[in-house]
Amino acid sequence: MSTKVKETTLLNEIEVQQCLSISKKLFGDGYHSKNFFFQSNIIKLLALKNNNIVGFLTTKRIKNKIIIDCIAIKYRWQKKKIGSLLANYFFKNIVRDDEKVIAYAWKVNNKIPAHKINVKFGLKKIKSLGKYWKRKCNKSFKCIQYQNSCKCECILYSN
Ligand SMILES: CC(C)(COP(=O)(O)OP(=O)(O)OC[C@H]1O[C@@H](n2cnc3c(N)ncnc32)[C@H](O)[C@@H]1OP(=O)(O)O)[C@@H](O)C(=O)NCCC(=O)NCCS
Repeated sequence: MSTKVKETTLLNEIEVQQCLSISKKLFGDGYHSKNFFFQSNIIKLLALKNNNIVGFLTTKRIKNKIIIDCIAIKYRWQKKKIGSLLANYFFKNIVRDDEKVIAYAWKVNNKIPAHKINVKFGLKKIKSLGKYWKRKCNKSFKCIQYQNSCKCECILYSN
């Protein structure tokens, strides 16, 4: 079963629900809001199998930078190159020549799941932003990693 990439800024209700469901399982309830996926300034790259979303990459331009906000692949489809497929589409079709790319990567249990993808596409680790989500963690969203305190760090990558 092949995977297709769909680029869009406008998601329909079903697509939003599918993205929210992936986000909830991977990051926790409320990490992404419905409104987030309806924002038209956010470009969404959807990985589709049989018209079902199995992953997404969200990105937006701020001034002259493009920011990878989130990349998420459904558990059962991880490590099957779908994340790489979305990243490849992003770097080939979305990023403009000489554009500065910024990626915020999640570090959990001392591992950075997106590290290899970031490096493969020419991004370098710049610095740790520390407990970036602490203010919101287990307050405005129910983080799946929360254990008495906020556990995750955010690492900034750029080209
Ligand atoms: C991280 C993620 C987006 C990668 O997508 P994917 O489709 O699983 O990745 P790919 O199959 O394209 O693999 C690309 C490389 O990343 C590595 N990788 C994938 N998941 C990884 C993980 N959890 N930890 C460490 N490395 C990982 C693969 O081994 C592969 O390495 P290789 O190129 O040397 O073979 C996906 O696993 C995911 O959604 N994870 C949970 C959510 C998350 O952490 N998102 C990132 C937030 S910044």
